[in-house]
Amino acid sequence: MIGAKKILILGARGMLGTDLGIVFAQLNPVLWNKNDLDITDRKAVLDKIATLAPDIIINSAAYTNVDGAESNRDLADRINHQAVAFLAEAAKKIGAILVQISTEQVFSGNNKNGYNEDDTPHPINFYGWTKWQGEKVLIESDADFYIVRTSWLFGRAKQRGKPRGVNFIETILQKASSNHPLKVVNDQFGHPTYTYDLAMGIFHLLDKYPLGVYHLVNNGVASWYDLASYVLQISGNNAKIEPCSSSDFATIAKRPHYGILNSTKFPYLRDWQAAVKEYLLNK
Ligand SMILES: NC(=O)c1ccc[n+]([C@@H]2O[C@H](COP(=O)([O-])OP(=O)(O)OC[C@H]3O[C@@H](n4cnc5c(N)ncnc54)[C@H](OP(=O)(O)O)[C@@H]3O)[C@@H](O)[C@H]2O)c1
Repeated sequence: MIGAKKILILGARGMLGTDLGIVFAQLNPVLWNKNDLDITDRKAVLDKIATLAPDIIINSAAYTNVDGAESNRDLADRINHQAVAFLAEAAKKIGAILVQISTEQVFSGNNKNGYNEDDTPHPINFYGWTKWQGEKVLIESDADFYIVRTSWLFGRAKQRGKPRGVNFIETILQKASSNHPLKVVNDQFGHPTYTYDLAMGIFHLLDKYPLGVYHLVNNGVASWYDLASYVLQISGNNAKIEPCSSSDFATIAKRPHYGILNSTKFPYLRDWQAAVKEYLLNK
């Protein structure tokens, strides 16, 4: 039972971190940003976490710019990989549970049937590689842990690590309102996932489920084109939208074609369409 636990949320002003703060508010969590603790500073991590002595540490801090990670390799590796080892060490010392948020991008995305929790990762970009190394150091540590893989996040708060700072849905709406021609890839598939639903899922996971590796995503699979078309439909926007392939839309980092996370241990969150609808109504 999570009720009497002292919770620390790292990356608290990021997109997921903001909704974690809202969902866990009833437990008065401690919310830390990079200004409160730079997770790449081992000594600060060990000292500050030992002083605070939380029961559960949720690490939502990350280097999340997938294209940027290809050129900023050292920084991405320090935040997504080495820092997780420091957090695991700190958690182990005080007997805390570390909850590490990870991504579908640890998988290659070559398998149309998607990936189960115990499938072996095989990332195809540097961001995915760093997130996998972060998982590995935690699994190999002696700390108690949950690893929560998720995908294609959207939420009301900004994505602090992204150059534009807005999620995919907002990018589509901005382009549609400026009569920008919309061409959206229809050969990459994933689970669009609402950060509020994910935060609720993490709450239930910590309350009721054993330690381990989990996939938490909204139910259903979409292409980016499916998601963009649905957003325009629900928001009553008649902008023209055309499907295109990944090869028409070059990105610095490769993206998995089938970023599909099968959730065999935890119930899928509600259907992605319902989540998108609520997001659009409440933002
Ligand atoms: N976004 C997605 O589509 C997606 C998909 C799958 C998985 N994920 C994973 O989900 C988690 C949350 O993602 P998100 O999109 O909510 O991220 P986000 O909005 O980019 O937020 C990341 C947070 O990490 C903080 N941070 C960066 N470097 C730090 C450091 N050295 N020390 C402490 N904090 C630091 C940032 O702080 P500042 O604001 O101060 O820079 C920011 O608040 C991440 O683990 C990500 O890998 C995301």
